[in-house]
Parts: sequence; C-alpha cells; structure tokens
Amino acid sequence: MAISRRLVFLLAAVFSTISLGESRSDTNKVFSPCGDAAVQRSDGFTFGIAFASRSSFFFNTSVQLSPCDHRLGLASSSQLAVFRPKVDEISLLTINTSNFFPDSVGGYMVAFAGRKYAARSIPAFVANSSFIVTSFTLVHEFKKGRLQNLYWKRDGCASCSGQSSFVCLNNQDCAIRTNNCKNRGGNVDCSVGIQLAFSGTDKHESVFNSWYEVQNLRQYSLFNLYSNLRDSLTSQYNRFF
Ligand SMILES: *[C@@H]1O[C@H](CO)[C@@H](O)[C@H](O)[C@H]1NC(C)=O
Ligand SMILES: *[C@@H]1O[C@H](CO)[C@@H](O)[C@H](O)[C@H]1NC(C)=O
Ligand SMILES: *[C@@H]1O[C@H](CO)[C@@H](O)[C@H](O)[C@H]1NC(C)=O
Repeated sequence: MAISRRLVFLLAAVFSTISLGESRSDTNKVFSPCGDAAVQRSDGFTFGIAFASRSSFFFNTSVQLSPCDHRLGLASSSQLAVFRPKVDEISLLTINTSNFFPDSVGGYMVAFAGRKYAARSIPAFVANSSFIVTSFTLVHEFKKGRLQNLYWKRDGCASCSGQSSFVCLNNQDCAIRTNNCKNRGGNVDCSVGIQLAFSGTDKHESVFNSWYEVQNLRQYSLFNLYSNLRDSLTSQYNRFF
C-alpha cells in the first residue's frame, strides 16, 4: 500500500474542538486512514487529506480512486496530511500555509478514509498562483458507524458576500488573492481552515449531532467559533477586514 509506507505528517495542523458531550475513551483501534473502522460516539476517527493536481486523483483520466489506491501513484506527487478528530465533535483543522502553499503540488485536495468501506471526497480547489480558498466544511457521513461518504459542504459564497477582500470563484468558493498572503507580498495569514462535521449514525445507531450544530452555527464566521484560535487566526482576519 503506497500511502502507509510513505505516510508523511508534513503539514502543521492545529486541532480545536468544541466538546458536545461527556468525554469517553477512544475505542477505535484503526489508526491508518486506509483502514476500515466502525465507530461509536467519542471515538477518534482517522482520515487523510491529499493535496495534488486535480488530474492526479483520477485513474486513466476518468475514474476517481481513493488516494490509498496505489494505482494513482500519489506518493510521489502529493502532500499527505493525516488527522484524527473525535467523531461527533466540531473540530477545526488548520493547515498553516507559511511552510506549505497548496498550489506548489497542484492546488486541489481530496479527503479520504477506508479500504473496503472506502470513501473519498471530490477534489476541491484550494489554490493556484492567483487565488487561495481558506475556509472549508467537510462532512463525514456514517451509517451504523461505517463511513459512507465524505463531502464538502458549500455555502455559495454567502459567508463572504459584501467582503471586498474576497473574490467569489465559480459561485461556490470565497477566495483571497494570493498577493494579499504572507510570503506572497501581502500580510494576511492565508492558512486553510477545514471545519469538520459528522452526520448519520454510530455503530449503536445513535445519531450524530455535530452536523445539526454546524448548520445552526453557520450564520457565524467559522473563525469566530474558536476562541482559542483567536490569537493565531481571528486577529489576522480582524486586522484584514
Ligand atoms: C483506459 O481507458 C481506455 C478508454 O476508455 C480503455 O480502452 C483502457 O482499457 C483503459 N485502461 C485501463 C488500464 O483501464
Ligand atoms: C486560478 O483559478 C481561478 C478559478 O478557477 C481561475 O479563474 C484562474 O484563471 C486561475 N489562475 C491561474 C493562474 O491558473
Ligand atoms: C503559521 O506559522 C507561522 C510561522 O511558524 C506563525 O507565525 C503563524 O502564526 C502560524 N499561523 C497559524 C494560523 O497558526
């Protein structure tokens, strides 16, 4: 398996979590993003995000495979990040772009997990030399604790309408011009934030609540939710706007 041999934790990731329930121990023993797990509430769940060009996620130019599939040969052409959030909690992943700018490997990302019960998101545009999208919501959809689907929840640029610093790309992504970013001539920290949500049911058929919470919280800015990131992220954005 190409990826587990070369599992690289290259990206500095910050986890921030709002706990929605009493905390219990993590019973999930599957730590590879290419393994199959059945989870219950309060378990950790391992998934990966691969950054590469859009075309490199497709086999024979047409079939999108999991990044775990060695036929893609992604190990040599991508950056991989592995995360283990707790299911049913709202987590924000931040990918610090001061050392890694996603356009350097092709500018798209795919979230993935599993082998037999494999799920992968469609490739999402993150950055090219002109623009970077800094805010994403990724939904993990489970059924009886098995991952069924991973998808990007879009808001059609609602969160940046009226903000002159943002450009709406393809009616779906709020993007910042890269020349406003640090290390690119500007002074904005263009770190990428990925908010996670969990929908569906765990292995005991308990319903996950975090998706419900995310929908209710959508009206607020992603970054304002995470008070302990204020110093690193929010203040940057406050200064910018
Ligand atoms: C790639 O696609 C072409 C055209 O659809 C097909 O003829 C060929 O067999 C495919 N190759 C592989 C390795 O699947
Ligand atoms: C970057 O992506 C945007 C949105 O898809 C596109 O309009 C623009 O032409 C791209 N710029 C470059 C330099 O590839
Ligand atoms: C990213 O890393 C740089 C350099 O280590 C640091 O100054 C900056 O605060 C970090 N940004 C975030 C959002 O963590």
